[in-house]
Amino acid sequence: MKKIAVFASGNGSNLQALIDAIKLGALQAEIVLVVSDRPNAYCLTRASEAGIPTFAFRAKDYENKEHYESVIKNNLEALGVQYLILAGYMRLIGTVLLESYPEKIINIHPSLLPLFPGKDGIGQALEAGVTETGVTIHYVDEGMDTGPIIAQEIIALDENETRSSLEEKVHAVEHRLYPKVLRHIFESEEK
Ligand code: GAR
Repeated sequence: MKKIAVFASGNGSNLQALIDAIKLGALQAEIVLVVSDRPNAYCLTRASEAGIPTFAFRAKDYENKEHYESVIKNNLEALGVQYLILAGYMRLIGTVLLESYPEKIINIHPSLLPLFPGKDGIGQALEAGVTETGVTIHYVDEGMDTGPIIAQEIIALDENETRSSLEEKVHAVEHRLYPKVLRHIFESEEK
């Protein structure tokens, strides 16, 4: 059973999908900590409702990234965390966490990377007028939504696609794909 920490900055619907998949037995993992850089984010409420400990911080309360990541790292190590799962965490991971968890940090992004990295991958795709976009799950490196790709799923845009209709499609894919891909990674490591 893998011990994982989920990092999120916002609504936390992907966190919820992971919580639900674990509860259903579709993902053999234990979320031992939810980390958020926004102390008022709804993802923290979801975590608390599921009985998961949380660590919330404000970057501006620390000297720099190394400083707050060292504090996070201490928390993760105390809990025996094996994987860091980014689910809408809108900060770049720095050297402290990258060096402590090599190839153990995974991110989900709402576009077909390398297209539309960074903020608002959905809006960027709409703006560009593409006929298809999608979801990418990848290992995290020091770049912005770069790093080796693990899985992608294509989503076709309708002619009259709106932001909310596309968001709905993207989230539906994310919520199905993330637990499935993580299960695959964790299971293949057990063998
Ligand atoms: C998700 O769509 C995720 O792919 C995206 O943030 C959203 C979080 O939604 N992540 C990124 O854009 C990372 N660059 P959620 O809080 O409801 O899970």
